[in-house]
Amino acid sequence: MEPALLELRQVSKTFQTGNTKPVKAVQSVSFEVPSGINTGIVGESGCGKSTLARMITGLTGVTSGEILLNGTRISGLRRSAQRDVYRQVQMVFQDPYSAISPRMPVGTFLTEGLVHFGLISKGDRKEQARKLLELVDLDPQLALRLPHQLSGGQLQRVVIARAISIHPRLVILDEATSALDVSVQKQILSLLVRLQEEFSLTYLFIGHDLAVVRSITEQIFVMKEGSIVERLPSETLQEDARHPYTLQLLSSVFSVKDLS
Ligand SMILES: Nc1ncnc2c1ncn2[C@@H]1O[C@H](COP(=O)(O)OP(=O)(O)O)[C@@H](O)[C@H]1O
Ligand SMILES: [Mg+2]
Repeated sequence: MEPALLELRQVSKTFQTGNTKPVKAVQSVSFEVPSGINTGIVGESGCGKSTLARMITGLTGVTSGEILLNGTRISGLRRSAQRDVYRQVQMVFQDPYSAISPRMPVGTFLTEGLVHFGLISKGDRKEQARKLLELVDLDPQLALRLPHQLSGGQLQRVVIARAISIHPRLVILDEATSALDVSVQKQILSLLVRLQEEFSLTYLFIGHDLAVVRSITEQIFVMKEGSIVERLPSETLQEDARHPYTLQLLSSVFSVKDLS
Protein backbone atom coordinates (compact mmCIF):
# COMPACT_ATOMS: atom_id res chain seq x y z
CA MET A 1 0.00 0.00 0.00
CA GLU A 2 1.22 3.49 -0.80
CA PRO A 3 2.00 5.60 2.27
CA ALA A 4 -0.22 8.60 2.96
CA LEU A 5 1.05 11.95 1.70
CA LEU A 6 1.14 13.16 5.30
CA GLU A 7 0.98 11.18 8.51
CA LEU A 8 1.14 12.37 12.09
CA ARG A 9 1.91 9.81 14.79
CA GLN A 10 1.13 10.92 18.32
CA VAL A 11 2.53 14.36 17.78
CA SER A 12 2.75 16.59 20.84
CA LYS A 13 4.05 20.07 21.53
CA THR A 14 4.57 21.57 24.93
CA PHE A 15 5.72 25.16 25.27
CA GLN A 16 7.81 25.93 28.31
CA THR A 17 8.07 29.65 28.79
CA GLY A 18 9.90 31.10 31.75
CA ASN A 19 8.62 29.90 35.07
CA THR A 20 4.95 29.71 34.11
CA LYS A 21 3.12 26.41 33.78
CA PRO A 22 4.00 24.54 30.55
CA VAL A 23 1.42 24.92 27.79
CA LYS A 24 0.40 21.63 26.20
CA ALA A 25 -0.52 23.16 22.85
CA VAL A 26 -0.82 19.86 20.93
CA GLN A 27 -1.36 16.51 22.61
CA SER A 28 -0.80 13.17 20.94
CA VAL A 29 -2.33 14.05 17.58
CA SER A 30 -2.45 11.28 14.97
CA PHE A 31 -4.00 11.47 11.52
CA GLU A 32 -3.39 10.79 7.85
CA VAL A 33 -3.85 12.93 4.79
CA PRO A 34 -3.98 10.75 1.68
CA SER A 35 -2.76 12.36 -1.52
CA GLY A 36 -5.53 14.37 -3.16
CA ILE A 37 -7.81 14.29 -0.13
CA ASN A 38 -8.24 17.85 1.08
CA THR A 39 -8.29 17.80 4.83
CA GLY A 40 -9.64 20.34 7.27
CA ILE A 41 -8.69 21.11 10.83
CA VAL A 42 -11.30 23.06 12.76
CA GLY A 43 -11.44 24.26 16.30
CA GLU A 44 -11.67 27.45 18.26
CA SER A 45 -8.87 29.95 18.72
CA GLY A 46 -6.04 28.66 20.90
CA CYS A 47 -6.76 24.94 20.40
CA GLY A 48 -3.39 24.31 18.75
CA LYS A 49 -4.12 24.49 15.01
CA SER A 50 -1.27 26.83 14.09
CA THR A 51 1.18 24.97 16.30
CA LEU A 52 0.26 21.80 14.44
CA ALA A 53 0.78 23.51 11.09
CA ARG A 54 4.11 24.94 12.18
CA MET A 55 5.34 21.53 13.25
CA ILE A 56 4.40 20.01 9.89
CA THR A 57 6.38 22.69 8.06
CA GLY A 58 9.29 22.41 10.46
CA LEU A 59 8.97 26.00 11.74
CA THR A 60 8.53 24.50 15.22
CA GLY A 61 10.02 21.26 16.45
CA VAL A 62 7.86 18.48 17.89
CA THR A 63 8.14 17.67 21.60
CA SER A 64 7.33 14.04 20.85
CA GLY A 65 5.86 11.92 18.09
CA GLU A 66 6.65 11.70 14.39
CA ILE A 67 5.58 13.45 11.21
CA LEU A 68 5.95 11.56 7.94
CA LEU A 69 5.73 12.78 4.37
CA ASN A 70 5.23 10.03 1.82
CA GLY A 71 6.29 7.56 4.50
CA THR A 72 9.54 9.36 5.31
CA ARG A 73 10.03 11.01 8.66
CA ILE A 74 10.35 14.80 8.35
CA SER A 75 10.18 15.76 12.03
CA GLY A 76 13.40 16.21 13.92
CA LEU A 77 15.46 16.84 10.79
CA ARG A 78 18.49 19.07 10.75
CA ARG A 79 18.07 22.43 8.98
CA SER A 80 19.97 21.33 5.91
CA ALA A 81 17.76 18.28 5.46
CA GLN A 82 14.63 20.40 5.75
CA ARG A 83 15.21 22.08 2.41
CA ASP A 84 13.70 19.26 0.40
CA VAL A 85 10.70 19.17 2.69
CA TYR A 86 9.94 22.83 2.05
CA ARG A 87 9.92 22.06 -1.62
CA GLN A 88 7.02 19.70 -1.02
CA VAL A 89 5.16 21.45 1.78
CA GLN A 90 4.18 25.09 1.49
CA MET A 91 2.24 27.20 3.91
CA VAL A 92 -0.08 30.18 3.51
CA PHE A 93 -0.91 32.27 6.57
CA GLN A 94 -3.79 34.52 7.49
CA ASP A 95 -2.10 37.87 6.96
CA PRO A 96 -0.46 38.21 3.53
CA TYR A 97 1.11 41.57 4.44
CA SER A 98 3.23 39.88 7.09
CA ALA A 99 4.46 37.30 4.56
CA ILE A 100 6.16 39.89 2.35
CA SER A 101 8.81 42.42 3.18
CA PRO A 102 7.11 45.82 2.72
CA ARG A 103 9.87 47.03 0.42
CA MET A 104 9.97 44.00 -1.86
CA PRO A 105 8.23 44.31 -5.22
CA VAL A 106 5.53 41.70 -5.73
CA GLY A 107 7.32 40.17 -8.72
CA THR A 108 10.51 39.60 -6.73
CA PHE A 109 8.58 37.95 -3.91
CA LEU A 110 6.69 35.75 -6.34
CA THR A 111 9.80 34.31 -7.93
CA GLU A 112 11.96 33.95 -4.81
CA GLY A 113 11.07 30.30 -4.34
CA LEU A 114 11.82 29.44 -7.96
CA VAL A 115 15.23 31.11 -7.77
CA HIS A 116 15.99 29.63 -4.34
CA PHE A 117 15.41 26.09 -5.56
CA GLY A 118 17.27 26.74 -8.80
CA LEU A 119 14.19 26.14 -10.91
CA ILE A 120 14.68 29.31 -12.96
CA SER A 121 17.59 31.64 -13.60
CA LYS A 122 17.46 35.25 -12.46
CA GLY A 123 16.95 36.40 -16.03
CA ASP A 124 13.65 34.54 -16.21
CA ARG A 125 12.16 36.26 -13.19
CA LYS A 126 10.13 38.88 -15.02
CA GLU A 127 8.53 36.39 -17.33
CA GLN A 128 7.78 33.96 -14.51
CA ALA A 129 6.30 36.68 -12.31
CA ARG A 130 3.98 37.63 -15.15
CA LYS A 131 2.88 34.01 -15.62
CA LEU A 132 2.29 33.49 -11.91
CA LEU A 133 0.18 36.64 -11.65
CA GLU A 134 -1.92 35.49 -14.60
CA LEU A 135 -2.27 32.07 -13.01
CA VAL A 136 -4.10 33.64 -10.07
CA ASP A 137 -6.13 36.04 -12.23
CA LEU A 138 -4.14 39.16 -11.44
CA ASP A 139 -2.85 41.86 -13.76
CA PRO A 140 0.80 41.10 -14.70
CA GLN A 141 1.55 44.80 -14.18
CA LEU A 142 1.25 44.25 -10.43
CA ALA A 143 4.72 42.67 -10.48
CA LEU A 144 6.33 46.08 -10.01
CA ARG A 145 4.09 47.17 -7.16
CA LEU A 146 4.85 47.04 -3.46
CA PRO A 147 2.71 44.90 -1.11
CA HIS A 148 0.77 47.79 0.43
CA GLN A 149 -0.38 48.85 -3.02
CA LEU A 150 -2.42 45.66 -3.31
CA SER A 151 -5.64 44.74 -1.52
CA GLY A 152 -5.64 41.92 1.03
CA GLY A 153 -7.37 39.61 -1.43
CA GLN A 154 -4.94 40.44 -4.24
CA LEU A 155 -1.96 39.93 -1.99
CA GLN A 156 -3.26 36.61 -0.71
CA ARG A 157 -3.49 35.50 -4.36
CA VAL A 158 0.17 36.49 -4.73
CA VAL A 159 1.13 34.46 -1.67
CA ILE A 160 -0.79 31.46 -3.01
CA ALA A 161 0.89 31.82 -6.41
CA ARG A 162 4.30 31.83 -4.81
CA ALA A 163 3.49 28.80 -2.68
CA ILE A 164 2.41 26.90 -5.76
CA SER A 165 5.25 28.14 -8.00
CA ILE A 166 7.64 25.43 -6.81
CA HIS A 167 5.08 22.64 -7.32
CA PRO A 168 4.62 21.42 -3.76
CA ARG A 169 2.55 18.33 -2.99
CA LEU A 170 0.93 19.70 0.15
CA VAL A 171 -0.25 23.24 0.79
CA ILE A 172 -1.17 24.18 4.34
CA LEU A 173 -3.58 27.08 4.53
CA ASP A 174 -3.75 28.41 8.08
CA GLU A 175 -6.81 30.67 8.34
CA ALA A 176 -5.78 31.84 4.88
CA THR A 177 -9.19 33.25 4.00
CA SER A 178 -10.35 34.16 7.49
CA ALA A 179 -9.51 37.85 7.30
CA LEU A 180 -11.15 38.39 3.91
CA ASP A 181 -14.65 39.63 3.09
CA VAL A 182 -17.09 36.83 2.38
CA SER A 183 -17.21 37.57 -1.37
CA VAL A 184 -13.40 37.70 -1.68
CA GLN A 185 -13.17 34.56 0.43
CA LYS A 186 -15.41 32.71 -2.02
CA GLN A 187 -13.28 33.83 -4.95
CA ILE A 188 -10.12 32.59 -3.26
CA LEU A 189 -11.76 29.26 -2.47
CA SER A 190 -12.70 28.73 -6.11
CA LEU A 191 -9.20 29.75 -7.14
CA LEU A 192 -7.82 27.09 -4.78
CA VAL A 193 -10.11 24.47 -6.31
CA ARG A 194 -8.92 25.35 -9.81
CA LEU A 195 -5.24 25.32 -8.80
CA GLN A 196 -5.64 21.98 -7.08
CA GLU A 197 -6.82 20.40 -10.32
CA GLU A 198 -4.15 22.06 -12.38
CA PHE A 199 -1.23 21.18 -10.07
CA SER A 200 -2.40 17.98 -8.32
CA LEU A 201 -2.20 19.62 -4.93
CA THR A 202 -3.49 18.45 -1.58
CA TYR A 203 -4.68 21.04 0.90
CA LEU A 204 -4.56 20.99 4.66
CA PHE A 205 -7.09 23.71 5.29
CA ILE A 206 -7.11 25.12 8.80
CA GLY A 207 -9.86 27.35 10.09
CA HIS A 208 -12.37 28.12 12.79
CA ASP A 209 -15.32 28.41 10.41
CA LEU A 210 -16.77 24.97 9.88
CA ALA A 211 -18.87 25.95 6.87
CA VAL A 212 -15.85 27.37 5.01
CA VAL A 213 -13.54 24.48 5.89
CA ARG A 214 -16.20 22.01 4.85
CA SER A 215 -16.67 23.63 1.45
CA ILE A 216 -13.15 22.81 0.29
CA THR A 217 -12.35 19.54 2.07
CA GLU A 218 -13.25 15.86 1.97
CA GLN A 219 -12.45 15.09 5.59
CA ILE A 220 -12.33 17.20 8.71
CA PHE A 221 -10.57 16.73 12.02
CA VAL A 222 -12.15 18.56 14.90
CA MET A 223 -9.62 19.83 17.39
CA LYS A 224 -10.21 20.86 20.99
CA GLU A 225 -7.62 21.86 23.58
CA GLY A 226 -4.73 20.32 21.67
CA SER A 227 -6.39 17.03 20.78
CA ILE A 228 -8.37 15.68 17.84
CA VAL A 229 -11.79 14.78 19.17
CA GLU A 230 -13.43 13.58 15.97
CA ARG A 231 -12.79 12.77 12.30
CA LEU A 232 -15.66 13.38 9.93
CA PRO A 233 -16.32 13.15 6.20
CA SER A 234 -17.08 16.72 5.10
CA GLU A 235 -20.05 15.64 3.03
CA THR A 236 -21.94 13.95 5.86
CA LEU A 237 -20.66 16.17 8.62
CA GLN A 238 -24.05 17.03 10.05
CA GLU A 239 -25.37 13.47 10.06
CA ASP A 240 -22.20 11.85 11.40
CA ALA A 241 -21.06 14.28 14.07
CA ARG A 242 -21.22 12.70 17.54
CA HIS A 243 -18.83 14.60 19.77
CA PRO A 244 -20.59 17.28 21.86
CA TYR A 245 -17.97 19.84 20.86
CA THR A 246 -18.56 19.20 17.14
CA LEU A 247 -22.31 19.44 17.67
CA GLN A 248 -21.78 22.76 19.39
CA LEU A 249 -19.67 24.04 16.47
CA LEU A 250 -22.30 22.81 14.04
CA SER A 251 -25.21 24.44 15.80
CA SER A 252 -23.46 27.80 15.77
CA VAL A 253 -22.77 27.55 12.04
CA PHE A 254 -25.81 25.97 10.52
CA SER A 255 -28.40 27.90 12.46
CA VAL A 256 -27.35 30.83 10.26
CA LYS A 257 -28.78 28.92 7.26
CA ASP A 258 -26.47 27.23 4.84
CA LEU A 259 -23.81 29.50 3.38
CA SER A 260 -23.48 27.70 0.04
N1 LIG B 1 5.66 30.12 20.81
C1 LIG B 1 4.80 29.86 21.79
N2 LIG B 1 5.17 29.95 23.08
C2 LIG B 1 4.29 29.68 24.08
N3 LIG B 1 3.02 29.32 23.89
C3 LIG B 1 2.57 29.25 22.63
C4 LIG B 1 3.43 29.52 21.50
N4 LIG B 1 2.71 29.35 20.36
C5 LIG B 1 1.48 28.99 20.75
N5 LIG B 1 1.37 28.94 22.10
C6 LIG B 1 0.19 28.56 22.88
O1 LIG B 1 -0.26 27.30 22.38
C7 LIG B 1 -1.69 27.25 22.36
C8 LIG B 1 -2.15 26.96 20.94
O2 LIG B 1 -1.92 28.07 20.10
P1 LIG B 1 -2.14 28.06 18.53
O3 LIG B 1 -1.51 26.85 17.96
O4 LIG B 1 -1.73 29.37 17.98
O5 LIG B 1 -3.74 27.90 18.44
P2 LIG B 1 -4.74 28.22 17.24
O6 LIG B 1 -3.96 28.36 15.97
O7 LIG B 1 -5.70 27.07 17.21
O8 LIG B 1 -5.45 29.49 17.61
C9 LIG B 1 -2.17 28.57 22.90
O9 LIG B 1 -2.42 28.41 24.27
C10 LIG B 1 -0.99 29.49 22.67
O10 LIG B 1 -0.98 30.53 23.62
MG1 LIG C 1 -3.94 29.89 14.55
